[in-house]
Amino acid sequence: MSRRLEGKVAVVIGAGSSGSGWSNGKAVAAAYAREGAIVLAVDFDSARAEETARIITEEGHAAHALRADATSNTDMEAAMAYAREKLGGIDIVHNNVGSGAGGGALHEYSLADWDLEIAVSLKSAFLGMRAGIPHLLARGGGAIVNTSSIAAVRPLLRGKSPGYTAAKAGVEAITRAAAAEYGPNNIRVNCIRIGYCDTPLVRGLYEKAGIRGEALEAKMKEGGLGVPLRRERTTVWDVAAAAVFLASGEAGHITGVILNVDGGVDVAPI
Ligand SMILES: NC(=O)c1ccc[n+]([C@@H]2O[C@H](COP(=O)([O-])OP(=O)(O)OC[C@H]3O[C@@H](n4cnc5c(N)ncnc54)[C@H](O)[C@@H]3O)[C@@H](O)[C@H]2O)c1
Repeated sequence: MSRRLEGKVAVVIGAGSSGSGWSNGKAVAAAYAREGAIVLAVDFDSARAEETARIITEEGHAAHALRADATSNTDMEAAMAYAREKLGGIDIVHNNVGSGAGGGALHEYSLADWDLEIAVSLKSAFLGMRAGIPHLLARGGGAIVNTSSIAAVRPLLRGKSPGYTAAKAGVEAITRAAAAEYGPNNIRVNCIRIGYCDTPLVRGLYEKAGIRGEALEAKMKEGGLGVPLRRERTTVWDVAAAAVFLASGEAGHITGVILNVDGGVDVAPI
């Protein structure tokens, strides 16, 4: 097995899973650890963070778990301080937190949903970078991987969410701005733009809409979304593979990139 992140410390924020099974943050945390990184699995639900750390340690790799809320600057600074004190520093910051739960047409979208979505899906990435960058600077460089969604650039097919669209577009914008700002400091900042994924979060949203059992499995396999690569869903392992690449030295001259991991949804003909 390759060890592309040997000796690195990775802080993964949103490293648990909102339901049983693998979510993006959990898979990314496991993939970083399998490549040799020591992982700090951060989640606002401590049981979720602990489960990810347990899976990683049971696989024979290194992980710590920490409860912290990605929308709290105090918590993010505490998480980064924990990594510095207990793990010796930080090389990789992975911002995975995002929601997309609120719905409604723009003129009916509640102000509370807007504020919540911007906090969970945009402010979280800002705070993760804000708290993490001083530690990357102290290390002489590092990598940040942010998480966007195809919703940033393509109108959502179902469940309109102006807040989510705006938040993810904002994540992409601050990724590019930070890449320019910290390139001279040897800090690379990139972003993964995920397509239609199969995660507990997505399954939960479908179940809430009354789509369950065989109908749900059919949606996941052949939802008719017109994905050019003809595999309907991006898997969390597709995302994890991209994250490992972006975090590793293989991407040493890549920064400011918004990498589609979406089966080609972004280029789907209309
Ligand atoms: N699932 C998809 O289809 C899809 C598509 C495009 C983009 N994304 C993005 O991928 C990311 C992960 O999605 P997922 O489906 O794997 O999510 P998930 O809900 O399965 O996992 C996210 C984890 O983040 C944690 N979390 C949520 N809010 C937090 C907070 N404030 N502080 C700390 N931890 C918090 C949750 O407890 C959970 O463990 C999100 O940014 C999402 O917007 C997902």
